[in-house]
This record gives sequence, structure tokens and C-alpha cells, in this order.
Amino acid sequence: MSELDDLKTKYVKQIEAASDLASLDAIRVAALGKKGEISLQMRTLGQMSPAEKKVMGPALNGLKTEISSLVESRKTTLETQALNIALANETLDMSLPVPTPQGRLHPVMQVMEEMAVIFADQGFRVAEGPDIEDDFHNFTALNFPPGHPARDMHDTFFLKPDSSGNKMVLRTHTSPVQIRTMMSQKPPIRIIIPGRTYRCDSDQTHTPMFHQVEGLVIDKTTHMGHLKGCLMDFISAFFETDVEVRFRPHHFPFTEPSAEMDVRYERVGNEIRIGQGDEWMEILGCGMVHPDVLRNCGLDPDEYQGFAFGMGVDRLAMLKYGIPDLRDMFAPDPRWLGHYGFSPLLQANLATGLS
Ligand code: PHE
Repeated sequence: MSELDDLKTKYVKQIEAASDLASLDAIRVAALGKKGEISLQMRTLGQMSPAEKKVMGPALNGLKTEISSLVESRKTTLETQALNIALANETLDMSLPVPTPQGRLHPVMQVMEEMAVIFADQGFRVAEGPDIEDDFHNFTALNFPPGHPARDMHDTFFLKPDSSGNKMVLRTHTSPVQIRTMMSQKPPIRIIIPGRTYRCDSDQTHTPMFHQVEGLVIDKTTHMGHLKGCLMDFISAFFETDVEVRFRPHHFPFTEPSAEMDVRYERVGNEIRIGQGDEWMEILGCGMVHPDVLRNCGLDPDEYQGFAFGMGVDRLAMLKYGIPDLRDMFAPDPRWLGHYGFSPLLQANLATGLS
């Protein structure tokens, strides 16, 4: 029996001294493994006399149980220790400043934010609508008659027709949200509509998906002078400098009269300077909402009137931030975003500057 006591003393000591899970397991194998000391002892039971067996059997089994439960509890202790060490080492102090923020806001998102801030200051709210539109909202209600060539002007992406032959479209402009808003809301209406738009077109200055910000004001008194003032204030706030503009007559089926707004600019080397110079660049389309469009939305044009405008966000982002090629905007290259992107921690606002 003293042999068993010695074994016990030896393993109890070793188990207590084990400082990591690997050495603990080595001890377990040495004691209780297939060829472990205690296991080998148990095998000798077969050759013992019944009297001896009666004594040694329970003694060995007791030892085996005791050692394995000691191993188990030491294992739990070591695991808790290891976890505590890992938790202590991997602590993140959330109050520390981020050393190098990795995430970047895409210039298009930055510019959308800037526009929302400027128009919010003029009392506009943000409205949104679906990217997949029906023909009614994208064309018909906006006064594009069925079969009218103006529909081709937009190089529309059509979806597969449904069982009754209706073809949904990827919206070619954000103007369908004008219709959705006028049909669901009573004037006065004063909204901007930022969003994705789609046309089947791709070259240095066109991508099949691009972004627009639309504006819509409907009440009983708003006139063309308000439209001009609103857009002139917007463009100077956006470029953060005085910008001279001109309005040129144009045609859109859904506005009458219609105009395009150009900004003065000059080219110095590869750089485009907005606001000064001898050249004019077209920036947006606008006009007074057509009486037929008001009627299509259930509004009486003798009572209500207002203006709408729509502009390409991507091009304004290129102009403001000196981005040379439109297509790079949508090539997911983290180096490009690292260079042209914005800190998501610095939100655009008019009080401290937009960018
Ligand atoms: N929807 C027009 C376009 O995409 C822009 C526009 C909007 C023009 C609102 C006038 C009024 O070209």
C-alpha cells in the first residue's frame, strides 16, 4: 500500500506544480494513460489472490478517481488563468483616440452629405424612392407620352417583362420620386431626393450607374425667381466660394419653362477652377413643374405650382475634389479611396465648413 501512497504523493505534487495545460496533460498520460503508472498497476490485479484483490482493487480505483479529478480541477484552474491572461492582454481601451482610422467615406457619399446639409439649411427634407421603378412613375406621370422618343433619350435598362407584359425599369433619374411624393403628401412640399440612377452608357464621363440629387418645391406661390435664388445659393455654398451662374432655356417633358444652369469656370493646366474664367459648364437641369405633371398627381395646377431640379452628384464630386476619371469612382480600389476618401468621423456641417 505504501507504494500506492508514494504514487499518490508524487502525482498530487506534480499536478499542483503543473504550470500549463500541456505539462498537465503529460502528467495525466504518465499516470492514467494506456501505459501510465496507475493503469499498469491496475493490470496486475488479474494476477492477485482474491484476498489481495479485495484490498488493492478499491484502493487502485480510488487512486485512479482521485488523480483524474485532481487533473480535471487543475485543468479548470489553468484554463481560467489562461483566459484571464488573454482578456488582460487583449483589452481595448475604447477611450483612446483611433491611431489611424482605416474606413473612408467615398467622395460621392461625402458630397451627398454636403448637399443634404446645404439644402437642410434652406428647409428641405430628404425623401427616397425605389431603384426599380415602373413605367408610370419613371415616364408616363412625368409627361413622357407612350412611344415618345424622349423615352429613348434616357438609354433605359429594362427588366424582363412580367406575365402581363409589364416591363419594370432601373430608374433613369430621381424624378419618379417627385411623383411618389406628390401622390402621397399634401403640399407644401419641400424635399430633396438623393439616390442611384441608371442609364446604359459607359465612357470617361458616363457610368451605367450614377447618382443624382433631385429637388422639389410645391406650394401656392413659389416661382422661377425662387428657383434661381435657391440654386445660386446652393452652388456657392457647395463650392465654398462665390460662383457665377447662368440659366439657359432647355427642354424637359416634366417642367415648363425648363432651363439648364451653367457655372463659370476656367482650366489652368490640368486643373479646373470653378467660379471664375471664360468658360461655362452645365451643372444641372431645372424648371417649373409642368401643369400636366401636377394633374397626373391629383393636384390642381390653378392652385398649386412649384419648381424642380436635378443634378449629377458624381460630376460635382469630381469638380469639387479634383478627381480626373469618373470610372475610378466605382473601381473598388482601397488606395484610391485612401487618397480621395473622407474621414467618417468628420461630418459635413455649415458651422465648421463642409469639407
Ligand atoms: N430628371 C432630369 C434628368 O435626369 C433632371 C431634371 C430634374 C430636370 C428636375 C428638371 C427638373 O436629366
